[in-house]
Amino acid sequence: MNYDGLVVDFQKHFGKDPSQTYFSPGRVNLIGEYTDFNGGYVLPTAIDRGTYFAVRANSKACITVYSDAFDDPVKVPLNAIAKQAAEGGWGDYIKGSLVEFDRRSLTGEQGLDIFITGDLPRSSGLSSSASLTVGLVFLLNDMWSCNLDRLSLVKFAKNVENEFIGLQCGIMDQFAVAMGKTEHAIYLHCHTLDSELIPVNMDGYELVITDSRVPRKLSESSYNLRRTECSTALEALRQDSDIEFLCAASLADLENNSVLKTGSVIYRRARHVISENTRVQESVHLLKKGDLAGFGELMYASHDSLRDDFEVSCKELNILVEAAKGIEGVVGSRMTGAGFGGCTVSIVATSAVPNFISELTAAYSAATPFEAIILRCGTGDGVKRLSIDDLPCSQS
Ligand code: GLA
Repeated sequence: MNYDGLVVDFQKHFGKDPSQTYFSPGRVNLIGEYTDFNGGYVLPTAIDRGTYFAVRANSKACITVYSDAFDDPVKVPLNAIAKQAAEGGWGDYIKGSLVEFDRRSLTGEQGLDIFITGDLPRSSGLSSSASLTVGLVFLLNDMWSCNLDRLSLVKFAKNVENEFIGLQCGIMDQFAVAMGKTEHAIYLHCHTLDSELIPVNMDGYELVITDSRVPRKLSESSYNLRRTECSTALEALRQDSDIEFLCAASLADLENNSVLKTGSVIYRRARHVISENTRVQESVHLLKKGDLAGFGELMYASHDSLRDDFEVSCKELNILVEAAKGIEGVVGSRMTGAGFGGCTVSIVATSAVPNFISELTAAYSAATPFEAIILRCGTGDGVKRLSIDDLPCSQS
């Protein structure tokens, strides 16, 4: 993507230069899927792709937002924020973010003209919606001088998903987008919100993201159903012990449970969550020792569990992971994010990446009607205001 457009497109829509620009990254989850809303551990990293914002205050008491990804602009008068309701379009993320400020009487007096662009594939498991929402609440906080800290903004952005959009997601994506640090993954405990930055020592290896191009729409998928199934599992486990979260249970608790039948759907959902939580803790231990091969094995195990027990993978993601396993220089691969389509993340020896790309894309096109897209991207920092030197257009 060419970012010359950020300032130029702002000028095109609004006839002036922007006064500020911001960047909000996407994220890739290395391991720890569906553990976040179960009070467990996750290990995501922010990436160097994401969403760019250009903004300037206006005197029209209105928020006007254009995006180069959507035809319809979003216009919300400041005095009509409270009346906004979700309509099913991209504007819901904008309106929902404004509502978070409005309900706490934090709406500024100035209207804002905003232009948005980016280089994250949408609906592909790299958190394009958290990138948009966290970026927007960060911008509003800055432009309206609300002085909220990053954790409050993380919670605002999560509320937008949970309450305005209706997706019962956990906190992982918003936290990673806000708190990311280049060359690090975030080891986050999603109940206490204690976190530790883990250096991702990729000496000679790199993260390779593969977009299956199988589109996924989270709210339309079985995401909320999985959440309900996890609550059912927790209720059953609580018959025998007073655990607060599914991730507080052990596999032995599950085996000995008097309610859940071994092998039943709810039993398998719980087995994924509990075993995945342990895998995250083991992964951090291995990464701290520099044992990438050991970590890679856990990535494969995570994928198997998401495929068989949690049933959120799909044929195409399984093909990508199986094909990656057979390619030289690959230490691990798994689906990442909510699944039902989207991306895989693999760890590949840098010298083997060109061969990985050609072998994997060939195997995938031979087995599916889709063309996979390989994204070679690095880790990145969390949401930030860009200085003039960071401006994408000044880099070209
Ligand atoms: C989505 C949600 C997250 C998390 C993942 C699965 O990305 O937004 O909260 O539940 O799925 O790990």
